[in-house]
Amino acid sequence: MTAVALIGGTGLTVLEGLEVLRRDTVDTPWGAPSAPLVHGLVHGCPVVFLARHGPAGTIPPHRVNYRANLSALQEAGARRVIAVNAVGGIRPGLDVPGRLVVPHQIVDYTYGRAHTFFEDDLEHVVHVDFTEPYCQPLRETLIEAGRRAGLEVVGRGVYGATQGPRLETAAEVDRLERDGCDIVGMTGMPEASLARELGLCYAAIALVANAAAGRGPGVLSMEEIERNLREGMRSVRSLLEQAIPLA
Ligand code: HPA
Repeated sequence: MTAVALIGGTGLTVLEGLEVLRRDTVDTPWGAPSAPLVHGLVHGCPVVFLARHGPAGTIPPHRVNYRANLSALQEAGARRVIAVNAVGGIRPGLDVPGRLVVPHQIVDYTYGRAHTFFEDDLEHVVHVDFTEPYCQPLRETLIEAGRRAGLEVVGRGVYGATQGPRLETAAEVDRLERDGCDIVGMTGMPEASLARELGLCYAAIALVANAAAGRGPGVLSMEEIERNLREGMRSVRSLLEQAIPLA
């Protein structure tokens, strides 16, 4: 059985239900991944866990070495990758902290990130298909896992990927909404397209940490976002525990 990879985002640097077997500090042709790979078992199923923002959560979204992270997980034998993303909620109903969303589409607003494996030393130019950016069977697994965990999971949503690390302006969020985005986060890209370039099956579970800028009362505070993430990650953990044996 090949391991399922988990990429933990803000608020999920460790996975409690994980029986740790070993920690591997690895390197890749693209540089070092964000953290050692933690190999372990969840309900007896092999998992390899990677903390996207580093073991202490200190790597900001625009400085994550997404290529090294995906490459390291592939080298470790993973074929399926479940990503956890903290997001702001835009669409009414999704602008509530704690909401869980399994996105089905992406609009990419990031820039200046190393976003492809197909850059140099090419024999020919490569354009991967990205019509459906997430792996549908793995999306269905996440939705089913949420059902089994007794959680309300929104099974569709358009993820707007922004550059960060600052949060958006209210006008930017209005524009994202006009573009059809339901949620906004800073780490969904280029992670998803790099996974596609490697042929990995990749899907995400997004946790709403806050109403996006201009959608809630007042300004956004990191304290509030972090508090909401701490609370919401309990649901994410129970969803993941159900998802891993199914994935
Ligand atoms: N915007 C972008 N990324 C985020 C947000 C947000 O409002 N909340 C958590 N991650």
